[in-house]
Order: sequence, then C-alpha cells, then structure tokens
Amino acid sequence: MAQPLDPTTRDAIAERIRFYRDLGVTDLYRRAVDTAPADGVGADTGTDMGAPGPASETRVSSTQPNFIGEEPAIPARKGFSSPPQSATVIPAAARPAALKLIREEIGDCTRCALHKGRNKLVFADGDPNARLMFVGEGPGADEDAQGLPFVGRAGQLLNNMITAMGLRREEVYIANVVKCRPPGNRTPEPEEANTCMPFLLRQIDVVRPDVLVALGATAATYLLGARQPLAGLRGRVHSVRGARLIVTYHPAYLLRDPRQKKEAWADLQIAMKELGLKPPGRK
Ligand code: URA
Repeated sequence: MAQPLDPTTRDAIAERIRFYRDLGVTDLYRRAVDTAPADGVGADTGTDMGAPGPASETRVSSTQPNFIGEEPAIPARKGFSSPPQSATVIPAAARPAALKLIREEIGDCTRCALHKGRNKLVFADGDPNARLMFVGEGPGADEDAQGLPFVGRAGQLLNNMITAMGLRREEVYIANVVKCRPPGNRTPEPEEANTCMPFLLRQIDVVRPDVLVALGATAATYLLGARQPLAGLRGRVHSVRGARLIVTYHPAYLLRDPRQKKEAWADLQIAMKELGLKPPGRK
C-alpha cells in the first residue's frame, strides 16, 4: 500500500519537478551513478544508458538504447535526448509517491495514436520497492478492461512463473513498453513505443530493481535499444539503467508453444541467481 508522503516532502518533490520541467528536462527520478558493483560481478559505471562504459561479459550489453545510439535501430522520438544518469535517488518511502507523480504526468494521455482505442491506461502493478521487475509489450484486452498489466491468460502464466521463483506477484513490479492496448494486440509501432518508453524508464529509475526481466522481443528491443533475435539475447545478463536485465520469452508465446517453458525457466533461474533466490522447497 502506498505510504502518503508528508506535505513538506511532497511539495519539495513537486517543486523539483517544476524546476526541471521549466528547464526543459523531462527525465527525472534517476538512479545514482553506482560507484561500486553491488555484487562484485563487474563495475557498473552507470553508463549503460549513456556513453559506452567498460564492457563486461556479464553486465554490459554491447548495444545502445534507441534513444541515444548514433544509428538507432528503432526511430527515436524526436526531441528526446539521452537520459544521463544523475545522483538523484528516490528514497524507498518516497517511491510510491514518485510513481504516482509519473502517473499523474501521463494523465489522460493522447501522446500517440494508441489512446484512440484505449479503455483504460495500464500503468503498472506491484511493489514500488521491488527487487525484480518484469516488462512486457503492452496491454491486451483484459488489461485494457481492468487497467492492470498481465491479468489475462498470459498474466496467469506470469503469476505461475513468479510463484515458481518463490515470490508473490505483490512482491515484484510489472509494467509494459506501451501503456495502451495496440489494436488487435499488434506489436506497438516504433513511434508508439518510443513515445511511451521515457515513462517506463522513469518507473525503472524510481523502483531501482536489481533485476529486470524483458518478456519477449518487444521489451528486449526497447530496453536494450536494438532489435536482435531473442535467441542471441537470452542466456546472458545485460545491463540496463543499473539493473541486470534477463531476456526471456513472452508468456503469450509460451501459451502458444509450451515446449519453450523449459527454456523460459532456465532464463528465470538466471534471474533468481542474480537475486540470490533458490527455487521454493530447496534449502
Ligand atoms: N501482454 C503484455 O505484454 N502485457 C500485458 O500486460 C498483458 C499481456
């Protein structure tokens, strides 16, 4: 349950947001530059979304996000520049309110064409202080009706995957690349995804998950900033915005081809290892 902020803190955050907005800076709530690796795996210089940092086999993706790459694989939203890392860390107690502010800024969004077919905008679900965050593609019919991510059949499977990891849905944070349902559940157009992505990145910066799981190619593409076959992205630990990113199949794909569940479980086990989790029942 979101803890209300005291009025002074809330006013201070609002004031800071106004200040940055007046400067034309729209990308707030960023994590601090990590000066030391959290787990000793490799130095995270906090440059994974900015200038190239030292490459590490396990931590740093060689690809650059579409927003900043010189030759973006996906057309960048005009006028959206590279979000640099800043020293601003939202304290855990203030994260619910910070997320609420992002939701308020999104408002009754008409920034892209997807709003035309929208019933409910799907912001996110879960714990604002989660160590694990899942990113899907975009709402389907059930999500559009309820205003929550992953509540349909694919959501049931995602819930089972979360349970298999020894966690509860309420303990993780779940969001999508786009917040409005694409017509007929089609893949979001680059223009739509690039319009919505800055909000997702800000959600990531507020929540500061240790591990991000990209569910399917769309999430992987927009988080990593390059379109690559899923096969080449799975089985490795990438780095996005200071979080370790694992790429796996989308639950909807697993519903169509359940034989791939074993592969998905192998991916989730990488995520669990990064989180220091053991499967339930194992000591
Ligand atoms: N598929 C997604 O990618 N996201 C949802 O929220 C639901 C289904």
